[in-house]
This record gives sequence, structure tokens and C-alpha cells, in this order.
Amino acid sequence: MPKPSITYRCETCGAEAPRWMGRCPDCGAWNTMTGAARVSRPHSGRAAADARPRAHTAALLNINEVEGDREERHATGLGELDRVLGGGFVPGSVVLVGGDPGIGKSTLLLQAGAFLARNEPVIYVSGEESPLQVASRSRRLGLESHHLSLIAETHLETIIPLIQKAHPRMVVIDSIQTVYSDQVESAPGSVTQLRESTAALVRLAKTTGAALFIIGHVTKEGAIAGPRVLEHLVDTVLYFENDLGSRYRIVRSVKNRYGAANEAGIFLMTESGLREIRNPSAIFLSSRLEGVSGSAVTVTREGSRPMLVEVQALVDDAQSMPPRRITVGTDPPRLSLLLAIFNRHSGQSVAGRDVFVNIVGGLRISETAVDLPVLLAVWSNLMDRPLPRDLVAFGEVGLSGEIRPVFGGEERLRESIKHGFRKALVPRGNVARQGPEGAGELRVVNRLDECLQAVDGWLSGG
Ligand code: TYD
Ligand code: MG
Repeated sequence: MPKPSITYRCETCGAEAPRWMGRCPDCGAWNTMTGAARVSRPHSGRAAADARPRAHTAALLNINEVEGDREERHATGLGELDRVLGGGFVPGSVVLVGGDPGIGKSTLLLQAGAFLARNEPVIYVSGEESPLQVASRSRRLGLESHHLSLIAETHLETIIPLIQKAHPRMVVIDSIQTVYSDQVESAPGSVTQLRESTAALVRLAKTTGAALFIIGHVTKEGAIAGPRVLEHLVDTVLYFENDLGSRYRIVRSVKNRYGAANEAGIFLMTESGLREIRNPSAIFLSSRLEGVSGSAVTVTREGSRPMLVEVQALVDDAQSMPPRRITVGTDPPRLSLLLAIFNRHSGQSVAGRDVFVNIVGGLRISETAVDLPVLLAVWSNLMDRPLPRDLVAFGEVGLSGEIRPVFGGEERLRESIKHGFRKALVPRGNVARQGPEGAGELRVVNRLDECLQAVDGWLSGG
């Protein structure tokens, strides 16, 4: 009889170790390894004892012999949500929806669930709110949902059979932090509970074919005790991006087995729930002021759609040393790098100045195409010269002050032409010489100083 193996597991990051340790070897947290976190797997003892090789039957399948069309997709009634899912959701898929408390996760999934529930069974499992709360929200939003059933339950072993019996098309778990399994001896909300409950729910989705939407709160501590630890278990991960108090909500796919990652869906939180924004460019630029320095427009292409956004910069005398370099919506270390390039290659300097950068509308841009517009906004504010109002720019800036091409150049230009931008600074190698039809004054640029000369020319030329 083999000895039962006890695994010690870190309550913070979930790392496992064969013996107890005072400090987790993975995340370095103290006193978080617990033997109580042992997960009982009823079959594992016998499987170990029964070590004889077993005959499995499996056949190799040539890739060309795999039959069937594209996966079946279902619409959620919200085009922007369908877009981040990769064109609707796939039966049996598991989608994790993360975000800060109060940002709109429950609202979004109630709206999507209600839409589907006009024709097909949908189950909303709420461990956070009572059925009355969910139902009255649904009524207030004017949702018609004949086939939507509510379960106010947090016990996993109770939830699962209910779902198996009901054959729903879609299930919402709100939220995974409230669900607990009695197979796991640690508290609800702990990493072990999160992982084991999610794994059981994933198996449920795969066996029943129901699409599962799991809500996870992002905790203050951020990554570790929140939904991050679940990302590898699920098919798709969507995050609501925090937007500092504005009513816009951006839902981004950070992982998607059924579509593109980094796709963004844009919503507005209104009195009557989340409304999708189909033309975000117009919205993000709508509050732009006339004739102010420190504002540049770029066209970002994260996901499948180009979007025009305003980049703002403020250069101020430093209040302390070293000066502050703060950016909201772009990569902070990259700002320091860009400012060093600026000091070396623009003929101007922000040394000893505080520099603040902001992407308007709460969008976060991780692509390097935003480099050039950031530096144009900095230059504009430093010189107190408003950029031409119909100028758009994009491009990565290299350490030697060179402007490097980014992907999707033609498409970005077309989007800006559509919104009336007549002047463009575009990296060489990004577009054919004349650019797409309708391109007005297109300057194909190689270096940062060339860009600034072109801007200077436009400004002095009127
Ligand atoms: P909610 O979906 O409950 O957030 P989460 O599930 O992510 O915690 O959204 C809560 C917030 O949204 C709350 O502050 C109220 C606001 N809200 C509206 O502004 N309009 C609405 O129609 C609804 C339902 C909520
Ligand atoms: Mg909620």
C-alpha cells in the first residue's frame, strides 16, 4: 500500500511542494504553505497502486481529415462583446471576465444572458446578490428573459448537478470568489478554492457543451489572489479596464483560444445598463479642445480595429528631483526611454522637467506605435505650440531617433482619413508612397527631427 502523498500548497500563489516550508519557494510569501490545502483526488490512490500499463485505444488523425466547419458561434446581443469573444461565444467554452468591483461585470453578463435567454435556457449563478436583487436589476434594465434561471448558491457540489439537469446554453458564475467546493479544505476565495472550483466548472462546460462565463474580481493586491491564477485554465480571458472615473468601459481580451487576443470592446455605462460604442474614434476625439498645446492624435490598432485617440502631455518645472515621469495609459518605463531619445534627438530637452502623459478616454495602449505621438505631444507642450488639428501620427521611435514602421499602416491611415485628418506623419516602409486614396499631406518620415521639422513647416506655413 503506497503512502498517501501530502502536497503542501501556497495559499497565495498556489505553488506546490512535497514538504512544508516556512517560505514559499515561488512567490516568497511567508507562512503560506498549508498541508490542509491537500486536494483529495479520489482516483489517484488507486491509479498509483494499479501501476500495470493499460491498453489505450487512440488513433492518429491526419489534419486534413478533420471534418466540420468553423465552430458554432452564438451572439450575445452586444456586438462589442461578440467582437472581443472572436465573433460570439463557442459552446463549451469557458470565459473568465475579470475587473474591479463595481465596474460592470454583472451588468454585462446579465445583459448578454438575458438576450440569449429569449430563446434558450440560461443559468445565472449568483453568490453575490440575492435573486431579488438580480431580478430587479433585470427589470430595471428592461430585459426580457423568459428562459433565464437564477441560482443563489455558492456550494459547487450543489451548483453542478443543477446545471447538468437544466442543459443551459450559457451559464454565468458571479463570482468565482464566492464559490467553494467541499472537496477542498481551504477557505472560499483562497487560491486553492479558486483553482479547484474553476477546474471543475471547466470540466462541466466541456461535458455539457454549455458556455461558461466566470466573473472574477481583481483584488487590490492585484495579480496573485485574483483571477490571474485562473487564466491558464480557461479558454478566453476578458478584462474590464479601469478608466479612472469615466463612464466608458473597455473590455479587452488578453487571451482567446477562439479569436484574437488584445481585441477591445468599448461600452458606455448608462442608466439603462451598458451600451456599446460602435464608433469609438468619434467618441474619443469628441472632447478635444481647439488650439491647445500638448495634444496629439494617433491611431492605435490593438485588436482588429483601428481607433483614433488623443495623447496628451504636460511638461512642468520639476517640483522635486529626480523629476517625475508619469503616464496613464502607456508603458511607464518606456516613457523614460522616449524622453531620453527626445533629449538627444529633438534639439530640445525636458531634462529637469516633470513630464505627464495621458491617453484620453481611459484607453491603455501597449503597442509602440504610440511612441511618436507621445513625443509630439511632449514637444508641443514644451514649446507651447498646438499641433495642426488635422494631424495624425504613429510610429515606433528607436534609440537612435529613427522612426520604425508598425503593423497595419494603411488601415490606420484609412481610419484617420475617414475622420477628416488631412495631415499624417507615417514611418517609411509603412505605406505606399502616395498612401491610400484621400491621403492629404502625407509625410513619410525616417527620423524624429524630420518629424519635428515637418510639424514646424506646417505650423509656420499656416
Ligand atoms: P456591476 O455590474 O454590479 O459591477 P460588478 O459586477 O463589476 O461589480 O455594476 C455596478 C455599477 O454600475 C454600479 O456602480 C452601478 C452602475 N450601474 C449603472 O450605472 N447603470 C446600470 O444600469 C447598472 C445596472 C449599474
Ligand atoms: Mg457584480
